[in-house]
Order: sequence, then structure tokens, then C-alpha cells
Amino acid sequence: MDSRRRSNASTPVESESPSSVDTPATESSVLFDNLDELLRRLPQENQYILVTGGLGFIGSHTTLELLKSGYNVIVIDNLSNSFEVVFDRIKILAQKFHDTHGSKMPSLRLHAHDYRDTSALKDLLQEYRLASRWGTPKSKIAGVIHFAAYKAVEESIRHPLKYYANNVSGLIDFASTLGDFGIKTFIFSSSATVYGTLATSGLPLKEELCVHREEVYIDSNGETQTLQPGCTGITNPYGRTKWICETILADLAASDPEWTIVVLRYFNPVGCDSSGLLGEDPRQAPTNLLPVVVKVMTGQYAELQMFGTDWDTTDGTAIRDFIHVTDLARGHIAALSTANEGKLAENFRTFNLGTGSGNSVLDVVTTMESVISKPIPRKAADRREGDVGSCVAVVDRSQQELQWKTQKSLKDACEDICNFLDVSGLSS
Ligand code: WQD
Repeated sequence: MDSRRRSNASTPVESESPSSVDTPATESSVLFDNLDELLRRLPQENQYILVTGGLGFIGSHTTLELLKSGYNVIVIDNLSNSFEVVFDRIKILAQKFHDTHGSKMPSLRLHAHDYRDTSALKDLLQEYRLASRWGTPKSKIAGVIHFAAYKAVEESIRHPLKYYANNVSGLIDFASTLGDFGIKTFIFSSSATVYGTLATSGLPLKEELCVHREEVYIDSNGETQTLQPGCTGITNPYGRTKWICETILADLAASDPEWTIVVLRYFNPVGCDSSGLLGEDPRQAPTNLLPVVVKVMTGQYAELQMFGTDWDTTDGTAIRDFIHVTDLARGHIAALSTANEGKLAENFRTFNLGTGSGNSVLDVVTTMESVISKPIPRKAADRREGDVGSCVAVVDRSQQELQWKTQKSLKDACEDICNFLDVSGLSS
């Protein structure tokens, strides 16, 4: 793998091609009485999106898709679970896309510091502040996508306070500072773990199964149901941090209609960009299934332990909704444009991002074996603490309200992972 540089956290790393010089700050609104309307109408090339954790696995793929869609992107990433070389690769891929399409490469900037560094954050946000005639601050930053969080289920069980400090306390301070700068379009990276043990109840995992204020909805029998806020049987601190963050954001949206908050509940992101340049490559030892399978394929691990072969499923291994990370990234673009066009049903809205169909752990192994045409060593092992037997999304809401659905398959994901290994020289 290439050498990996670490940047000076106080000096943003720029990627500004001459044609993508920042749009001069709008000194005062001369065209529109309402600055909000001006900002809403700004074409994407004049909109900046702030992405925390933008060099991570999902963050990097989303940053790339934002750039391909014409948004300027500002990344905050403390490189605790990512590498700065990813920044260079995103820039190369985005530039190649725009050269191929004859379109302008947007700007991409990296601020290599912790999103919880409020002083550094305020300095950054000040750079994008727009002068406005009234007290309400305005910004060239049209939205924020917040990925930065710890996400290892097992680690969260061993170190809960670390997870609550980073994922929950960090969010509170972050959202407060954004609000002070008038930045109130917020896309939150959440997780299907908020459904807790409902995942194995056999109930289809609709967003209505986890709400943050009383809601009325019509069930599949045409019966009117009243839903009470809360959660059911979340099995680990990581999942609880996600649910608590959702609740905090729901309360924030209820307190201030200027906020537009979208919560995206990921199922199981897998695969990588078809270029092979943005594979899942965490600094820390992986716990998720596909990165562990990759460690076995490359000989770094002797075999895959399949946690639980006695689940109530067709082959005894657990079932998950494995969604290609590029589809997941494009779900964020759909959410952002729906939010910025003012088309959300309400100013706080949750969406499942999944395929809507399940595959078992053994399905994943045999699919990868079919791609590489050789066996992957594995053995049955005990269930892992915090796991559930099945977790598959209902994706009606994201299809109907975001006009988004997945395009790629589990096999596509396995093929793209193999391409990443070839490009990285890691194939055995
Ligand atoms: C999937 C299945 C394991 C590793 C978690 C988080 C979720 C999201 C994705 C952040 C399970 C089995 C795994 C291994 C195995 N995180 N497995 N051997 O636990 O469904 O979801 O990661 O966004 O919020 O909860 O994903 O990939 O860890 O596990 O058998 O070495 O694979 O037991 O059944 P999970 P996972």
C-alpha cells in the first residue's frame, strides 16, 4: 500500500484546480430579498458540503459522489481510522470523472483535525461565513454530513464512555456550533442497530419501529397505529449512542424549524468504488464481516470465524442486508438534494438505507468464493455478544421520498473488493 502522509492539522490541504476557485463571498443580497432563497437557489457548484469523517470507508465514497455531483466538499477527518492518501485518491477519481464528462472539478479541502476541536471548527466555519444584513448568520456551507463516530460494537461494550464521549457529547457540541453559524441542514449517519431486538422479531424493519415522538401510521392491515417514542432492546453501547443522537437531533428539529435533519439508518455497507482505489482499509483491526473475509483472502488471518451457525435461518448463519457502499453514498446525495429542495415531509426524517433483501454470512462467503474461484477457510464459532439473527431493511420510504434505491448486488461488491486488492497489490 502506498506510503501514507499525515498532514499538519492546522493547515488545510487544498485541491483547487484553477477553474474551481472559491466563489467570491456574496457581500450582500442584491438579487433576492431573502438570503435563504438565494442560498437555496445556489447551483451545486456554489454550494459547499461539510463532511466529517470524510476519509473513512463510507465518508470517502460519499465525498467522491458529492464531487461527481458538482458539490464543493470540505472534509474534517482526524485520521484516527483513515489515511490521508485516501484524500489524494478521491481527488484523482473526481478529477478523472469531470475530465471525462467535460465538467468543472469542484473544490475539495481537508482539515485534518478532530470534529470535536471546537476552536479549529469555528476557524473553519468562519472562512465560509456570508455577510448578511440581519443578525442571523448565513454560510456558503449548504449542508453537513456527519460520519465521524466510533463504530465497533464489541469495542463499545468494553469502552462505553469512550463511545458516549465521542459519539454523543461530540455531536451536541458540533450541532451547537453549526447552529451558531446558521448551518442547519444536517445529514446524520445512523445505523440499523437502533432497531435492537426488533430486528429478530420477524417484523419488517420499517422506520416507524423506532420513532422519536408520538406518530400515527396506517399498518399493513389498514389499521391506525399510534407509535410511542423509544427503542426496543438495543444490544450494545454503540447502538445506544446512535439512538441517543437521533433523539437529540429530533428534539433539536422540534425546537427550531430552521433545522432540516435527515437520519440515515445504514444496514451493512460492503464493497468499494469500482476503481479499486477506495477499498475498506481501517487502521484498526476490523470486526465487520467483509473486511475480515479480506484478511483471510490475503493470508493475514488463517480462517474466518462464523459467529453463530445455530440462528433460526435457512443455513443457520445470521442474515444481514448488505448494501454496496457506492449505493449507500448515492443515498446521501439523494437525501441532501431532497433536504435542500425543501421536499422533506417534515424537518426531522429517518430513512433506512439498505437493499430490502437479506443474505446470510455463508451466502457472503460462497459469493466471494465464486468470484475468486477458490475456497475461503472458515469455521463455526459461538455467537458474538450483541449480535442479532437477522436484520433486513424495508426501503419503501427512501424509494418513495428520496427517489433512491440500490443498483448494485452482493456479487458486485465482492468483485469490486477483489479489484481493490488487485490494484493495491494485496491479492494473494
Ligand atoms: C455481520 C454478520 C456477525 C465478523 C455492525 C454494526 C452496524 C454497522 C455494521 C456501522 C454478523 C458475522 C462478522 C466475523 C462473522 N456498523 N461475522 N465473523 O454486526 O451486522 O453490524 O456493523 O455502521 O451498525 O452493528 O456487522 O459485519 O460486524 O457482522 O461471522 O469475523 O457477520 O456475527 O452476524 P453487524 P458485522
